[in-house]
Amino acid sequence: MLPIRSLALLIGLVDAVPTVEIAPGVQMPMIAFGSYNGSYRGCTVEEGVLQWLKLGGRHVDAAHMYETEADVGAAVKASGVPREEIFLTTKIPGPIGRNATHQMILTETLPKLGMDYVDLVLIHYPCADLKDFPNKCGAAQHAERLDTWRGLQELRSAGKIRAIGVSNYNAEQVEEVIQEFKEVPAVNQVQFHLAYHNETLLKSGVRLEAWASLAGPTASYQQVPSISLTDPRLMALAQRYGVSSAQVELRWETQKGVVPITATCTKAHVLGDLDIFNFTLSAQDMEYLDRLMPTEMEEYA
Ligand SMILES: NC(=O)c1ccc[n+]([C@@H]2O[C@H](COP(=O)([O-])OP(=O)(O)OC[C@H]3O[C@@H](n4cnc5c(N)ncnc54)[C@H](OP(=O)(O)O)[C@@H]3O)[C@@H](O)[C@H]2O)c1
Ligand SMILES: *[C@@H]1O[C@H](CO)[C@@H](O)[C@H](O)[C@H]1NC(C)=O
Ligand SMILES: *[C@@H]1O[C@H](CO)[C@@H](O)[C@H](O)[C@H]1NC(C)=O
Ligand SMILES: *[C@@H]1O[C@H](CO)[C@@H](O)[C@H](O)[C@H]1NC(C)=O
Ligand SMILES: *[C@@H]1O[C@H](CO)[C@@H](O)[C@H](O)[C@H]1NC(C)=O
Repeated sequence: MLPIRSLALLIGLVDAVPTVEIAPGVQMPMIAFGSYNGSYRGCTVEEGVLQWLKLGGRHVDAAHMYETEADVGAAVKASGVPREEIFLTTKIPGPIGRNATHQMILTETLPKLGMDYVDLVLIHYPCADLKDFPNKCGAAQHAERLDTWRGLQELRSAGKIRAIGVSNYNAEQVEEVIQEFKEVPAVNQVQFHLAYHNETLLKSGVRLEAWASLAGPTASYQQVPSISLTDPRLMALAQRYGVSSAQVELRWETQKGVVPITATCTKAHVLGDLDIFNFTLSAQDMEYLDRLMPTEMEEYA
């Protein structure tokens, strides 16, 4: 029997989701589905991830901190999609050091997921204390970050992880890894949406993933501005392309080379979020969208 995605493609339900090479030989689908409990209204994480996989999504974003890795694993199993067709990301909490990294991935993450490897593992935060979020520990914990990276490299050598990256790092913290290991992290997963995007970080040479890609529930944690999907400027532009405003925002991100992570329980939204690759925003509209960022955020541009 054909995999469900192939069937969906065959009957034209979804356009193929393109992939991007994030490390030698490692292809990552250009849109992901989150598994943070607070991202959902109206379904469980397991139901949400299962629906995403059934409708053709192949990239799922998880984290130790979300305490839903077992739900993700159950959804993958229930979907019947072959493991090698799925791109699974998870995160270790922060600079926990080499030994704790080994311990966590081998004795918690992999058993909970029910898998023998993870496609991508990120260091969730550059600082151990979340109240220091995002970058306020600055250069402190430098040694712990590098020791943790070393632990991830060893797990990669052992075949337990295919690629390694970071999350919520600033450019200086990314540079530490490059300096020490002569290796660019596969991705840096950061908050990124129309009202909050750091162009300096975008141009710094490491592939970005966007969390709160639609300025959804998690955007409020940092008390940054957001632009609603019902914003009339966004809606007018969406109407011109014959798509939804969510599709415009996700397309804007992917055209900037950023890989969005979203989440939804709504079937129509899943189908829309996966179907953003058969239209192209003009250069002029991309610039217009870039400039929607509120003026108090202008230092970002
Ligand atoms: N690395 C980090 O530190 C970090 C931090 C935060 C989040 N994350 C990751 O990012 C994931 C997503 O975060 P988020 O929840 O803030 O994402 P988001 O995509 O900004 O927001 C999700 C919300 O968007 C709505 N939505 C989705 N598709 C839609 C569509 N086509 N039209 C209208 N509304 C739509 C959903 O509402 P409906 O249910 O109504 O569709 C849902 O409530 C998390 O689950 C997690 O995996 C990572
Ligand atoms: C993209 O393709 C889907 C079917 O795969 C179709 O429903 C949708 O209208 C297309 N969108 C655009 C903007 O062409
Ligand atoms: C999130 O966690 C709460 C508390 O554990 C639980 O009641 C709720 O069902 C969970 N929601 C999802 C979407 O899994
Ligand atoms: C890490 O484990 C090694 C043995 O595998 C041990 O020698 C070392 O002391 C441990 N380091 C810490 C910080 O626990
Ligand atoms: C954007 O990122 C750069 C590089 O990390 C950083 O120097 C700058 O402070 C960031 N801008 C804001 C507004 O946080």
